[in-house]
Amino acid sequence: MLFFQASPLFLLLSILLSLSACQSDENQGLSRYELGDQVIDKKVESLLNQMTVAEKIGQLNQYNGSWDVTGPVSDSDNYNAQRLHHLRNGGVGSMLNVLSVEATREAQRIAVEESRLGIPLLFAYDVIHGYQTMFPIPLAETASWDLTLIERGARIAAVEASAAGLHWTFAPMVDVGRDARFGRVMEGAGEDPYLGAQVAVARVKGFQGDDLANINTIAATAKHFAGYAFAEAGRDYNTVDVSDTTLRNVILPPFKAAADAGVATFMNSFNDHDGIPATGSRYLQNTILKGEWDYRGLMVSDWGSIGEMIQHGFSYDLTDAAEQAINAGNDIDMESSAYIQHLDTLVNADRVSMQTLNNAVRRVLTLKFQMGLFEDPYRYSNKDREKNLIGHQDHLDAARDAARKSAVLLKNSAHILPLKKKGQRIAVIGPLANDKDSPLGNWRARAIPDSAVSLYEGIQAAVDDSVLISYAEGAQLTTAGRAFHSEITINDSDRSGFEQAKAVAAAADVVVLAIGEDAYQSGEGRSQVSISLAGLQQELFDAIAEVNDQIVVVLMSGRPLAIEAIDSQAAAILQAWHAGSEAGHGIADVLFGDYNPSGKLPMSFPRHVGQAPLYYNQKNTGRPGPRPEVFWTHYTDSPNTPLYPFGFGLSYTQFDYSDLALDRDSIALDDEVTVSITLTNVGDRDGSEVVQLYIRDRVASITRPVKELKGFNKVFLVAGESTEITFTLGYEELGFYGSDGTYRLEPGVFDVLIGSDSDQLTGVSFTVQQP
Ligand code: NOJ
Repeated sequence: MLFFQASPLFLLLSILLSLSACQSDENQGLSRYELGDQVIDKKVESLLNQMTVAEKIGQLNQYNGSWDVTGPVSDSDNYNAQRLHHLRNGGVGSMLNVLSVEATREAQRIAVEESRLGIPLLFAYDVIHGYQTMFPIPLAETASWDLTLIERGARIAAVEASAAGLHWTFAPMVDVGRDARFGRVMEGAGEDPYLGAQVAVARVKGFQGDDLANINTIAATAKHFAGYAFAEAGRDYNTVDVSDTTLRNVILPPFKAAADAGVATFMNSFNDHDGIPATGSRYLQNTILKGEWDYRGLMVSDWGSIGEMIQHGFSYDLTDAAEQAINAGNDIDMESSAYIQHLDTLVNADRVSMQTLNNAVRRVLTLKFQMGLFEDPYRYSNKDREKNLIGHQDHLDAARDAARKSAVLLKNSAHILPLKKKGQRIAVIGPLANDKDSPLGNWRARAIPDSAVSLYEGIQAAVDDSVLISYAEGAQLTTAGRAFHSEITINDSDRSGFEQAKAVAAAADVVVLAIGEDAYQSGEGRSQVSISLAGLQQELFDAIAEVNDQIVVVLMSGRPLAIEAIDSQAAAILQAWHAGSEAGHGIADVLFGDYNPSGKLPMSFPRHVGQAPLYYNQKNTGRPGPRPEVFWTHYTDSPNTPLYPFGFGLSYTQFDYSDLALDRDSIALDDEVTVSITLTNVGDRDGSEVVQLYIRDRVASITRPVKELKGFNKVFLVAGESTEITFTLGYEELGFYGSDGTYRLEPGVFDVLIGSDSDQLTGVSFTVQQP
């Protein structure tokens, strides 16, 4: 209402819109849109009819708000002045990194009150694993294999982000990541397309809720379309060269699942695919996404990725790049200024058709209508909601629950864990032990720096006075300042804290050693050739081990690390990741047995970086071995196997798998088989187990992986309890995309493998009959 008082022009527009909504002819030729909400479609058409070409182009132009920056920016003097001018004349359709109610209201006011048509802006931001309340990084949260928990994390992130006036998050990242060198594996759901697809859906549902028109929901983005995490050698932004069958069977399933779940937007990626930058790829965008999948949401470029097609050597100049991008299906230009500068010329020269321009604009306007922004462009920007909802205690409680459920117990010799809560001396040591910042992880949106509960704090809060807790940092991990944009420097020389750490360790019954990665060792632009412990951490471990062998390692990281050296010596290892605002409490819950660990690895942990990319669902090859001579697929200096396989994670109780059975041993092509297994908690503690089902298609028209996850079920059992778990397998689970790009199920023998990780499995077989 406030808006109507402030802008009579908009009132007039609203009347025009409602009148023109009756003119059904206007929607002719728009069958794709007519499949959607017809009321909105009519409003979109009516508005489109009133827009000049310049105003249409404006809707496709996305600027950074300058409040924060998540990519390279120009340093030219009139950078901001020109942007403000564009905002005033309808030359901007959406903005990223405009943060807070105050800032979004002001930018919105300019757009709706000063531009001719008063079309509201969309405000976007990278809300990846929380807005202010940080949840574990997405890779960590995936380790929970708990889809309800993951959805809830995204839901809370949306509640906080929308309370700050935001409409749109550039998440979830659904890139399947097999290479631990690639820094952005922290942001995804790990190496498996099936798990990745389930998690993608949970996150989309969490961000978007049931209805995008609700003010506590935000539009989600499936990114980066496509292949970004397959960058050669794990180096960010590097070339991607994958086959079409890998694209369709491995990379695309989480994107398809997100599209089917109604994700409002897609983002393309910096890499090329088959020699064509994804931003300019007709195949990815127009053929697959908007064609085969009939996706009706919008496609935003990645930051500056239209302009980067020049550096790729695919576009001569920015005009060429704009033409290639929009004709390939890229709707919004984020921070390249290619569309705002050149689309007009391209449309006039008929190099970009009016239909192409209109279709892109339709997608943007549709989202704005869906979100109710034309009714009230300020509806998300509410000071009371911002004050009351952001950082709410309920959100912190949920973050703690997520932190403990994301932790993966990798080793626990002689049952050193859980630690006793009474009458012992615990030394808390390590560069990450009292770090209140790294647990927030990278891509931390508006998290307050140094606001996480440290492990040291968490342990202190978990025990009573009979436990003597001492602390020593031992060695710093980084030396200078740390920031999202800049390189970090690792401490590789200052050992001055070693002696104190050794003294503290020597005087304790047990050492909890927090090592791993700084938050800014993973994330965008953070690829590494080494995934071993950085700096002096291995040395620190060795020094401590000299005086006390009861070492519980708490490993905080954004990627799998190669930890073979500590694995052989540590008494226990808990993979805690960067676990968010409540990290210390959540980890302490696990260490002291208030929560029985149930996390399972979403990525294989290699023995050595030289194994990268290492993933469980590899192909058999023609020489799987082992063989007595050297001529089989192996390394001469390391086993092929991971140190810890995909799906692995221990519990404080034990689970037994028995009675694996099929309801039939042969099915027709259009039939289904039911697989059952009995799970028993044979230990003396209650706990949860992730029952995992894998298949193998023994012979097919293309080589198939030795195992593929096709089902999982996280089950809670009290000590001694048993339950039967069933899975159904049919066309969807058993089929694949063949070399012609079509999905098919081929007759033949299939193995079904069930167990507690991708390595410990029991199997049966059945046949899919010839038709
Ligand atoms: C570049 C990143 O690749 C992308 O994921 C992010 O959403 C944009 N920058 C905007 O910050």
